[in-house]
Amino acid sequence: MTHYNVGDFQNISNVFVDYQNLIPKHNGFVFKFIKKNNKFIHTFAEGDFLKKVNIPPSLIVGKTLHELLPENQADEKQSCYEKAWNGSIINYEGNLKGFHYLSSLTPVIVNSQVIEVNGTAIEITEHRKNTLKIQELEKLSLIGELAAGVAHEIRNPLTSVTGFAQMIKELSNDKTIDSYIEIVLTELNRINAIVNEFIFIAKPKENMKTRETDIKALVSHVVEFMKPQATLNGVHLIESIHFDQTLTIQCDPNQITQVLMNLIQNAIEATTDPSIQEIVISLKNRHSDSFLIEITDKGSGISQERQKRLFEPFYTTKEKGTGLGLMMCKRIIENHNGTIEINSQLGEGTTVKINLPMVFDHQQLQG
Ligand SMILES: Nc1ncnc2c1ncn2[C@@H]1O[C@H](COP(=O)(O)OP(=O)(O)OP(=O)(O)O)[C@@H](O)[C@H]1O
Ligand SMILES: [Mg+2]
Repeated sequence: MTHYNVGDFQNISNVFVDYQNLIPKHNGFVFKFIKKNNKFIHTFAEGDFLKKVNIPPSLIVGKTLHELLPENQADEKQSCYEKAWNGSIINYEGNLKGFHYLSSLTPVIVNSQVIEVNGTAIEITEHRKNTLKIQELEKLSLIGELAAGVAHEIRNPLTSVTGFAQMIKELSNDKTIDSYIEIVLTELNRINAIVNEFIFIAKPKENMKTRETDIKALVSHVVEFMKPQATLNGVHLIESIHFDQTLTIQCDPNQITQVLMNLIQNAIEATTDPSIQEIVISLKNRHSDSFLIEITDKGSGISQERQKRLFEPFYTTKEKGTGLGLMMCKRIIENHNGTIEINSQLGEGTTVKINLPMVFDHQQLQG
């Protein structure tokens, strides 16, 4: 590795006027480089941004890109530097220690020769974050539109394929064909479930059919319904209801059933350790106008990093998961003016808390 001294470049840098004026005032920096022995060497660097990321100019001056940055980043910038050295003005985005900047390279040409390149950069971290948020929202709404379109197109052919597969099953006397058709039907059922989830995501509010519902009975019904599946996985479902009086609420019972089934299913899938086999589903009448449903497992738990992504569409860690389950739960609960939160400790387990109002404003729902 060749090292150069700051002094080696002072003459070149001094050719140019007061570069303090070039330094972008708010979180910017300027820099210069030359090409020597076929390498780009930084000859100057200064600015608030460098202070912010705690990189002193002395660390940059005299160094090549590859001495400063990880290889892939250095290679990328090297090609920008090369183009600037060939006489073009180049703009590119970079990032140092998680802070983003937009940089512009301007070649300095004397007697038709590039003798130095000036770089100016401004920080765009906030702008970058906002852009990402907008992209996320656009992605969601695009998914909604796509969901509606694709699901409708798929549903009709799917119905006829399923119908014919069932006919083949009924007509066949061949055990091998029967077993194949059984697989075809199972997979078709899975596609059907995904298509239905898509339709749901596209139009959850329009699909809501609310009525007075005995929530204690609904929870018991779901727990009973899920027990065989839990037993198959060696898991015991415990229903725990903390009050006596009947609790009648305004909700779409089918949608709330779906939410609970999804959450219990997730809890079962997370409980792989045969020594910890309990999942508790509790119903607590917390306030007079709202109540709490909790589903607690002592399964794998979720790391802090993964917790941030749980409600994203298609986020799954399962081979056969669609990653739409939690997103759909959140939509349904929010459409009921409720909240859903997930508390989890990696290696210890997970509690999902659903808070639902007894009566929710139906007018608001229509709006
Ligand atoms: N109780 C839980 N314990 C541990 N991890 C969980 C739990 N619930 C959800 N997760 C994690 O969150 C991810 C997303 O869950 P989600 O229900 O949205 O999708 P999925 O279960 O992967 O697929 P599906 O669409 O079939 O529900 C899961 O893949 C899993 O990594
Ligand atoms: Mg799931």
